[in-house]
Amino acid sequence: MKVAVIGTGYVGVTTGVALAMSGPEVTGVDVDEEKIRLLQTGKSPIYEPGLDEALVDVISRGKLEFTTDHTVALLSAQIIFICVGTPSDQEGRADLRVFKDLIDQVHHLLCHDDDERILVIKSTVPVGSNDQVAELFSDCPQIHVVSNPEFLREGSALQDSLQPARIVMGASSTQAFERLEQLYKNIEAPRIKTSRLNAEMIKYASNAFLSMRISFMNELARLSDKLGTDISIIATGMGLDSRIGPEFLRAGLGYGGSCFPKDIIALLSIAEERDEPLTILYQVAKVNEQQPTWFLQKLEQRLGDLANKRIALLGLSFKPNTDDIREAPAQKLLTILREKEALITAYDPVAMPNMQRVLSGEQVTYTQTPYEAVNASDAVILCTEWGEFLELDYERVYHIMRKPLIFDGRNALPHSELGKIGFEYVGIGNQVGSLV
Ligand code: UGA
Repeated sequence: MKVAVIGTGYVGVTTGVALAMSGPEVTGVDVDEEKIRLLQTGKSPIYEPGLDEALVDVISRGKLEFTTDHTVALLSAQIIFICVGTPSDQEGRADLRVFKDLIDQVHHLLCHDDDERILVIKSTVPVGSNDQVAELFSDCPQIHVVSNPEFLREGSALQDSLQPARIVMGASSTQAFERLEQLYKNIEAPRIKTSRLNAEMIKYASNAFLSMRISFMNELARLSDKLGTDISIIATGMGLDSRIGPEFLRAGLGYGGSCFPKDIIALLSIAEERDEPLTILYQVAKVNEQQPTWFLQKLEQRLGDLANKRIALLGLSFKPNTDDIREAPAQKLLTILREKEALITAYDPVAMPNMQRVLSGEQVTYTQTPYEAVNASDAVILCTEWGEFLELDYERVYHIMRKPLIFDGRNALPHSELGKIGFEYVGIGNQVGSLV
């Protein structure tokens, strides 16, 4: 069985590697020549733990290859995965231009070929889009359209693809379900076989629900600050209830990344279009937008006017184990701090080059080590809970800072130990000063 994966972003590369590891021969396709050249040498264009090693392995065993030639890859494949991005447009809707062009290209090339093929859509597209694709292909019944949304997380993408929590398949023919079952036969996970509409909605609803948990905890954290309660302990207490569960209850600077913000806005816009506004989800997005500003207000309460204050940011990626800075809270903090004329030093183990491309200038200095970043600073803000920051020599940090003030934007640092060293510790929703 031959598989073509079109689009070599996060989802495409990981899907290609995971499929090649579990059976079929896979060809990854992209229009970006530079990216394809890099992938051909076994190097991933994104930082993702374990991906480079797995790439080298499957390429050397002849299971995975990369090309910019769509025609050859499409004609030789029995299963075609569509993994192109669907970013937000100006109005917040999913921008489907690349997706639609590609679908037209596949239709044009394969509709008059008699071979049976499965067209698997992994790109996150508005509910109903895949039925429209199926409608387009109604003049070529040998091509079956399946919605097969992706649930992998950046930072553990390969692991999530090889051991998913579920495989959701949305289709309208038994052949499509059977072929996909055959493809995934080596992957153990519960299956949901349903309509394309339901499959698309499962993806949006999952991301929306997870974001809602985060915003709920972030809003409760603000109240916690006022009441003198500790949101981390409250989360532990809540999470032990099996109806709630412990995941995605960590209060912090808010969710970021290429998925939650984009998918929430897209779902809000889908609901508006149907005149069924999702009021809870609207507030979820609003709380998330406010969270970095709320945290900086706490900093201003401590330091007063931030102009010419030295602020060190630790962590720039939207979460640990990725170099992705899209919608990262650190990016919002950097922007606001610059507006307030603070002097910023910043460090991240892998995401600095990406941040430098979008935010540089006199007010921001990117450093080689976390110690250089915190040196002579008036405050440190932990934006991303990279393991490296949890293990810093905080005695040393204490001695080189100008003021021993730590703002923990992820409630991740050992606050009582920091208190013993002499730091003033401010977290999210854990009553300022109560933990030292
Ligand atoms: C998310 C979903 O978790 C995946 O299932 C989905 O496939 C993916 O979006 C997608 O749609 O492609 P990802 O964006 O990689 O994955 O990141 P998450 O691990 O979900 O984290 C998202 C954000 O929430 C991060 O900024 C993280 O710091 C934040 N977060 C997460 C919290 O603030 N608190 C938590 O308790 C958990």
